[in-house]
Amino acid sequence: MGADRHQVNDAPEINEWFDSMRRDFRRWYLASDNPWRQSGWGSTPERWRLAREVILSAVEHGGAFLDIGCANGLLLECLIAWANERGVVIEPHGIDLVPELVDLARQRLPEYASNFSPANSFTWIPSRRYDYVHLLLESAPPSRHREYLGRVLDSAVARGGRLIVSNYGSRSKSESPIDVTGHLSGLGFTVAGSAAASEHDGFVITRTAWIERS
Ligand SMILES: C[S@@+](CC[C@H](N)C(=O)[O-])C[C@H]1O[C@@H](n2cnc3c(N)ncnc32)[C@H](O)[C@@H]1O
Repeated sequence: MGADRHQVNDAPEINEWFDSMRRDFRRWYLASDNPWRQSGWGSTPERWRLAREVILSAVEHGGAFLDIGCANGLLLECLIAWANERGVVIEPHGIDLVPELVDLARQRLPEYASNFSPANSFTWIPSRRYDYVHLLLESAPPSRHREYLGRVLDSAVARGGRLIVSNYGSRSKSESPIDVTGHLSGLGFTVAGSAAASEHDGFVITRTAWIERS
């Protein structure tokens, strides 16, 4: 079922929250042919790498990698290339709220087109498990983070696999990423590792932390 037709079996305000997210992502990400903008990035490719490669700190060996909120698939395409430089082979998978972005991800990674689906990760029931599942905290309302992260960990992460949770800062808005490790610990999760990416002047652009499924 397409994400647009999939309503969350929940309070109306939660459905409205996701409808508003989907409208905003559709409006902003699809307004441009620029592949970085279609993944929500407005700066240079060099800074993109700085801000995103840090996610590989959680990836010690190859395996199936699901990006929840994959947008146009650019992050997965880049992670495959950057991991390859380290001799690590990633098999990309993605879901996104916006079906048109999923179509772009399929075009970007045609060899893996069947690994991409439109879905809302808040209600999605995965049909398999992944060695790595990456998501951003913004993919669920803050009041629901604990149940959301627990559900994704239990239903989508393979035994011995990792749920990787990231938060990005914005230099142009002078916003630093939140303390993801502290946030996850405060929700009762045991954090297995964490990493941050900083610019030359010390501005932290990305924080990421991961939880292991035993
Ligand atoms: C900032 S982009 C992230 C792109 C890439 N994953 C990255 O980290 O650079 C956020 C994407 O997440 C998607 N998204 C947000 N909430 C989601 C949810 N609950 N389920 C699936 N996709 C979601 C949006 O549609 C958008 O394409």
